Amino acid sequence: MLIAGNWKMYKWPSETAAFCRGLVAPEGVDIVVCPPFTSIDEAVPTGLTVYAQNVHWDAEGAFTGEISAEMLLDAGARGTLVGHSERRQHFCETDETAWRRAEHALEVGLGVIFCVGESEEEREAGETEAVLRRQLELVRAHENLVLAYEPVWAIGTGKTATPQIAEEAHALIKELVGVPVLYGGSVKPENAEDLLSQPSVDGALVGGASLELDSFNAICETAARIRS
Ligand code: PGA
Repeated sequence: MLIAGNWKMYKWPSETAAFCRGLVAPEGVDIVVCPPFTSIDEAVPTGLTVYAQNVHWDAEGAFTGEISAEMLLDAGARGTLVGHSERRQHFCETDETAWRRAEHALEVGLGVIFCVGESEEEREAGETEAVLRRQLELVRAHENLVLAYEPVWAIGTGKTATPQIAEEAHALIKELVGVPVLYGGSVKPENAEDLLSQPSVDGALVGGASLELDSFNAICETAARIRS
């Protein structure tokens, strides 16, 4: 089972190494941390698996503000998030640009956690399945690809998908692409057990609760208990 921590734009380089050393991976659980770019250098020497939060589709070039997969590899990162809903909402990420990023990253040997999920309006309009199908249209299975189902209405809101909602979406996503699927959206120690014990849930992508050692370690321990 994979538990990934998406730090978003939190945690400074100066606090990163000590925090990473406080994370304990129980048997049967793989931990990934996704720090801001400036903290990757501090996280890598701690021995944890480090992913970035975004990546460009070219190796290098005139793309101010972007970072390439090759640069991430050179910095010791092992993978990257792609297509997070905050990138889609605030930075014009589209299904096409997200897959371009993922495809190149996979080609050069990075792991990718590719995020999908419907908004509240889309769910209320009964469009969840159509949205997931559209977001996954270009996506092709790869041994280093993992998907994350993150309903936008559950991210950072404290509203979690019920285990049934998560299971239904995960089953569809697995049928469409056939790779492991993480659940993300207000995962906390209190709800981790119900979500992670669903048959089609292969792990979690944790935002807020990955910023404290106690809560992230507790979620990892829950994952290990379910696994064993
Ligand atoms: P959250 O974030 O756990 O704070 O809801 C999840 C994510 O955005 O990946």
